[in-house]
Amino acid sequence: MNPRLASLQPYPFDRVRALIAGVTPNAALRPIDLSIGEPKHPTPALVKDTLTGALIGLAQYPRAAGLPELREAAAAWACRRYSLPALDPATQVLPVNGTREALFAFGQTILDPVAGARVVCPNPFYQIYEGAALLGGAQPVFLNDGMKFDALDWSGVQLVYTCSPGNPTGRVMPLEEWQALFELSDRHGFVIASDECYSEIYLDEAQPPLGALDAAHRLGRSDFRRLVMFTSLSKRSNAPGMRSGFVAGDAALLKQFLLYRTYHGSAMSIAVQRASIAAWGDEAHVRENRRLYAQKFEATLALLGKPLKADKPQGGFYLWLRTPIDDTVFARRLHEQYNVMVLPGSFLARDAHGENPGKNHVRIALVAPLEECVEAVGRMMQLAKTI
Ligand SMILES: Cc1ncc(COP(=O)(O)O)c(C=O)c1O
Repeated sequence: MNPRLASLQPYPFDRVRALIAGVTPNAALRPIDLSIGEPKHPTPALVKDTLTGALIGLAQYPRAAGLPELREAAAAWACRRYSLPALDPATQVLPVNGTREALFAFGQTILDPVAGARVVCPNPFYQIYEGAALLGGAQPVFLNDGMKFDALDWSGVQLVYTCSPGNPTGRVMPLEEWQALFELSDRHGFVIASDECYSEIYLDEAQPPLGALDAAHRLGRSDFRRLVMFTSLSKRSNAPGMRSGFVAGDAALLKQFLLYRTYHGSAMSIAVQRASIAAWGDEAHVRENRRLYAQKFEATLALLGKPLKADKPQGGFYLWLRTPIDDTVFARRLHEQYNVMVLPGSFLARDAHGENPGKNHVRIALVAPLEECVEAVGRMMQLAKTI
């Protein structure tokens, strides 16, 4: 057995199950689950209809490189979205089956498991980065929320995962931060994997979040050296079950990534590729999606107040709520007394640099219908009054 498997940490949802084991929730209130970041708005008819119309594709083995039409649609979308002059669909884009598998597989492609190999992850963070590092034979190193890059020791770092807009914080990395990270990458030679799966969920239509490729281009790095961005249709197009996304960036890295993927067998079904082409070509459903999230943010933020506070996020669909008591105690009481499930922030972070930066926060995924989100936040405020 691969001994590295034993180093993997329990997934946050397993920890939640353990936290509430034996707790009987208040049955007088209907259950509301805001703990999981699974989009619940309807998948657009355009995507479903194209998928069913393309089922003939099930009779063919797909190629890991994907259909040229999909790569072209992805490249065209990225150029429109990030104001890029060009992106070569043949060398700078690859389809992936969602960002999760791609973020993991990319680690296995990049990492050389020598002694002292390290991977930088944000903290709090999406746990796949840590698993990719550990199974790739490297040690995860954590950059706590709010920490400056120069507070880290960069020796041995081979790969850096960034997440912007961030899960769970909703923070978007500004251009200066990208510049500092690119300079460090030039100095130390590490690769940057930019997780942008929340890039299309934001509150201000006039200010879409900055992406890594956009930042690189603005800083005169149009070859995207040592940089790959990861995006998907899961959140953008409410299609998490379709498992469709793409990566774009450094052509030399993507060539090796394609080699890895060919052996791993990570090709996307042709039917899913056809539906993905339709999805990347349409923005009307994405704007409607944002409108629904914006309504929920407006309504729930208006209800919050002392002692429960959350900032308006720059992107993503999470409220990152500060709790007046320990986050695990808050989440358990909320479940028991008010039948609402949220994710304790400390389960999304690691103890590093003397603290757990997720502590005293809970993550609330505003995925349920508006009226359920409002009801759930109202119940949280009731609980807070009793603390
Ligand atoms: C930060 C982050 N990255 C990646 C993913 C994976 O998304 P998908 O594989 O559906 O693209 C998620 C899913 O919740 C996420 O929160």
